[in-house]
Amino acid sequence: MYVCNCNGIREREVRAAIDAGAQRPADVFRACDAKPRCARCVCEMREMISEQGEALRYAAE
Ligand code: FES
Repeated sequence: MYVCNCNGIREREVRAAIDAGAQRPADVFRACDAKPRCARCVCEMREMISEQGEALRYAAE
């Protein structure tokens, strides 16, 4: 499933970028060698970053 239609960035690529340390959508774009265009995907990227961070915090408890 695509998260960013403008750049063809898939969900698994966003997750890989987050696993590699992306903390902001800009980091995800950089990791995918892409640039934001319409920015409609930014909210979803933020949610994925937040969810993954919460999962890590939960796992660490
Ligand atoms: S959907 Fe990602 S920049 Fe447009």
